[in-house]
Amino acid sequence: MKLLLASALLAAVAQADRADDLVNRMTLEEKISYLGGRGMGTYPDDGWYVGTVYGLDRLDIPALLYNDGPQGFRDDARPGTTTAFPSGLNIAATWDTEMAGLWGDKMGKEFFDKGANVMLGPGLNVARVPVNGRNFEYMSGEDPVLGATLVPHVIEKSQAHKILANAKHWVNNNQETNRNSVSSNLDERLRYEMYYPPFQAAIDAGVGSFMCSYNKINHVWSCENPETLLTDLKGNMGFEGYVMSDWGATHSPSLMEGLDQEMADSDFMSYDNLKDMPIENIDASVKRILKPFITVGAFDITDEENADRSIYNNVTSDEHFQAARTIAANSHVLLKNDNDVLPLTADFWTNADMNVAMFGTQAFDNAIGGQGSGRVDAAWKPTPLDTFKARAAGGEYGSDSDKVSYYGDPESDDDIAEMKTAAEAADVCFFWISTMSGEGGDRGSLSLDNDAHVAQVAEHCKKSVAVVTTPGAALMPWSDSIDAILVNFMPGCASAFATMDVVLGDVNPSGKLPITFPNVENQEGFTEIQYPGIDDAENVTYTEGWSFGYRFYHYHQAQPNYYFGEGLSYTTFDLTKATVDGQSVKVGLKNTGSLVGSAVPQLYLQLPEECDEPLWMLKKFEKISIEAGEEATVEFDLTDRDLSIWNVDDDVFEKCVGDATLRVAFSANFNDEDSYIEKDLTIA
Ligand SMILES: *[C@@H]1O[C@H](CO)[C@@H](O)[C@H](O)[C@H]1NC(C)=O
Ligand SMILES: *[C@@H]1O[C@H](CO)[C@@H](O)[C@H](O)[C@H]1NC(C)=O
Repeated sequence: MKLLLASALLAAVAQADRADDLVNRMTLEEKISYLGGRGMGTYPDDGWYVGTVYGLDRLDIPALLYNDGPQGFRDDARPGTTTAFPSGLNIAATWDTEMAGLWGDKMGKEFFDKGANVMLGPGLNVARVPVNGRNFEYMSGEDPVLGATLVPHVIEKSQAHKILANAKHWVNNNQETNRNSVSSNLDERLRYEMYYPPFQAAIDAGVGSFMCSYNKINHVWSCENPETLLTDLKGNMGFEGYVMSDWGATHSPSLMEGLDQEMADSDFMSYDNLKDMPIENIDASVKRILKPFITVGAFDITDEENADRSIYNNVTSDEHFQAARTIAANSHVLLKNDNDVLPLTADFWTNADMNVAMFGTQAFDNAIGGQGSGRVDAAWKPTPLDTFKARAAGGEYGSDSDKVSYYGDPESDDDIAEMKTAAEAADVCFFWISTMSGEGGDRGSLSLDNDAHVAQVAEHCKKSVAVVTTPGAALMPWSDSIDAILVNFMPGCASAFATMDVVLGDVNPSGKLPITFPNVENQEGFTEIQYPGIDDAENVTYTEGWSFGYRFYHYHQAQPNYYFGEGLSYTTFDLTKATVDGQSVKVGLKNTGSLVGSAVPQLYLQLPEECDEPLWMLKKFEKISIEAGEEATVEFDLTDRDLSIWNVDDDVFEKCVGDATLRVAFSANFNDEDSYIEKDLTIA
């Protein structure tokens, strides 16, 4: 152990030396050439990386090649040559560190094979407003601990491929409306406790780069904000890598304010603008940029390895498609399963007379990802209709079967009369419903597209299943009339297979909601001051404090449609006991059903009243697989940090001493007292 530490330390010293040495050998012009990009699509000549910094042959430094994005390598010039992985929000919905690692590993490999050395992701912002058009990209959902627990696995596994990950968008880029002018106004304590933890976890896992965002924070542009960049990120949070601006988010030569690199061009961070700035600051930023590449091995790739790397490669594969399928299946959230209509057993499919009716254009024109820089064009995107037909035919994809049919007007999801007749004749109805969003705009509403037929048709079905594809929370006014609801967010290229796996019971669903699903639009009552902002939408003020997402519903005793953390399994689990010993909490649970399945016990904590944080906050969770009838124990060791609040005078997290209360539960739904175990916790 000691030896390992010593050699790690030596390696760290050697890397610092190497970066120092490189910088010492650079001319001023060469140094400054690292502080800004060379434009989009400039390398190779007719290739297409979204960001480029030229290499320096003289010193054997390769070009820095950046590419979108957070759910796979976006190659617009060569669509279909990379894997369209499930979105960041799907990773949040898995509540599964292993899935986060698998996602990071496969994406990192594709970036490496495409010749890039920076992956512009993961997206880590905590979802504040449900309509944010980019919520699908963020792997924190509405909770800082959810993101902070999952992100280290993404960073470690992706950077193991000798590329850098990029934590974005730093920070409080919590809406797309007016993102290029709006100021997110909030105090320091709220930033540290609610919005920074996933970013802190990325730093602690060794993330090499950060991206500052388009918006302002407290009236100062994010990319020239000394408080968030210097005091917070590089100061208190200990980030040693570099900060690049979002594309076009630089407004001045911001070297002295904490920006290391302008992207995608060098309009402000140019030689003329920077040449007279203090050389220590120039050197420090260049070292910050070079060091992480050295650390992950990006500057030590052998010629042999390099020979196989190119943007022209087709880097997707059946193996990666299968990984996307596994992750998507594990991110399906089963919200409802009345009368156990799911899973449909294998003999159902082989029954000669079985008849499945499908409704909703998502059945054959399926959304799999959001729009904007986070989009990836799939090499292959099987549709639910053809996937289910092939299953019914017992053949390969493409095999036809008249046991599974689509009904309705494919242009409008309409033709209610035909749908009702089909529903009555069917053994099972599937309603495929979706909506989309993307970068640059928020959602006008939380409604799903063209779902008016669901309530009207579902009551004619013997069994009804809705499969909802959505970039965030969705309104489901028809949820009472449907037997089973599966939500799969923005599930990636393999989603039809993944849904099939879940529907058949080959994968027992274990996803949990990473965000609350409300009953009505703006159920949290965001005022214009809070969203989208006042003064020509220049100021958005976070007056809600902690009270958004599930915390809002607790605080105001309001009822959402489905709570954060909810999600059913084909088996059932009971919490059998919880014991507290100091800061350690042991939780007993039992699989009380007849199938193996995974549970996600969740620990929520209410700190002592003195600490002025009156809400239940998720502190720990763990996904655990348990055999039918078996019991298991999960041990949650609460760290001092888990029991702390941010002290704004001393700039440290400080333990909140006093009498706290904790709840161990399977979701943030505390309506039924029997569904959770409550314990006192003395914080000393
Ligand atoms: C890339 O490879 C996959 C299979 O590995 C294939 O399905 C796909 O069509 C290929 N993409 C292109 C654009 O040829
Ligand atoms: C936004 O708030 C700041 C601080 O209160 C104020 O100075 C500024 O004028 C506001 N913006 C507009 C457009 O009114």
